[in-house]
Amino acid sequence: MADINIKTIISSGNDEAAIEKASEILRQGGLVAFPTETVYGLGADALNEDASAKIYAAKGRPSDNPLIVHIADTKAVYELAESVPEKAVMLMEAFWPGPLTIILNKKKIVPDGTTGGLNTVAIRMPSHPVAMKLIKESGVYIAAPSANTSGRPSPTLAEHVIEDMNGRIDMILDGGVVGIGIESTIVDLTGEIPTILRPGYITRKMLEEIIGDVSIDRAIIEPDPNLRPKAPGMKYTHYAPKGEVTIVESEMTDVKEDHNLSAIDIKPESIKEDEIRPTDKKVIDKINSLVAEKTAQGFKTAVIATKDNAPYYNCDNVLIVGEADKGVTISANLYAILRKCDTIGAEYIYSEALNQNELGGAIMNRLLKAAGHRVIKVN
Ligand code: TXA
Ligand code: MG
Repeated sequence: MADINIKTIISSGNDEAAIEKASEILRQGGLVAFPTETVYGLGADALNEDASAKIYAAKGRPSDNPLIVHIADTKAVYELAESVPEKAVMLMEAFWPGPLTIILNKKKIVPDGTTGGLNTVAIRMPSHPVAMKLIKESGVYIAAPSANTSGRPSPTLAEHVIEDMNGRIDMILDGGVVGIGIESTIVDLTGEIPTILRPGYITRKMLEEIIGDVSIDRAIIEPDPNLRPKAPGMKYTHYAPKGEVTIVESEMTDVKEDHNLSAIDIKPESIKEDEIRPTDKKVIDKINSLVAEKTAQGFKTAVIATKDNAPYYNCDNVLIVGEADKGVTISANLYAILRKCDTIGAEYIYSEALNQNELGGAIMNRLLKAAGHRVIKVN
């Protein structure tokens, strides 16, 4: 196995020989970053405690933050989990392979080093062909957090992994840009009522259609220091660029009142050509005045805007995150844009609040964390 200090090998994920090499590295206890449909993962053999310890070292990750175990066959769930409730089976059938992680009570075979000392284990079957191939070819279950330095936005391109991990891991499989761009939905199935610990592409509504009532861990929607998130990773400042991020929202599109992170069918008001929604106009005016103020003080600023509103900002760095009503264009771009803020050297970053419907709830969850819940309301 390559020494951890040797420069990381970067290969195409479509290259058979590269998959073979990556598989060998994993079997030997090394680290390989690979694409999934959500974000890039940093993989190690999940059942090898020494190997998963290397993940924590490479990321600078707190040791109480457990890893997700990636599998390619549902049979693996029965090897890793003590019991597999009926609802887990229903979710596996409905959403795997795909961006859903389930939490179950673990069997002894899963080392404490992989679960951060918890007696539960997070399991997911990714749908990305490179991830699938790697799990199958290596013959190991792959423990993989997002392949970023702890606290930075998750990588959605191999280049992001290189930025954070070059020289710290053995190999990177490049699969190009990922499709979804934010991490999987996490559902805890160890309690009486299934609970969402981290919102994602699979919404509450989609889950409820399969298994009935699903609740949401309140600690992830309320920035209350007394509430402790059930997913240890959700308590850390996260996804944050170096500059200070502030979200500006109109009272009419309140981001906090809507605690239902699921799909409520709010139909966006239609935008006529050349006409800005009045609520958006207030947000734009506020952001422009904040930008002017910081620019006058000599600071570098950036604005995160939806496509329709972008032309109305007076800022040197207007970063278009996607189309207001097409969540997946936004989720796919969000982390790359947060990283771009660092490349630009932006010291103050202002973002429009985004739609909360469908995937929007999960996107706002990440954006609020990047902003440390700094929200300005305009009316
Ligand atoms: O989409 C994803 O899930 C990506 C790709 C690579 O699969 N992975 C990912 O892993 O986002 P990571 O480590 O960045 O986030 C895992 C989250 C953390 O918040 C962690 O605390 C939580 O899952 N988690 C893991 N095991 C858990 C457990 N047994 N109980 C509660 N939370 C758990
Ligand atoms: Mg992560």
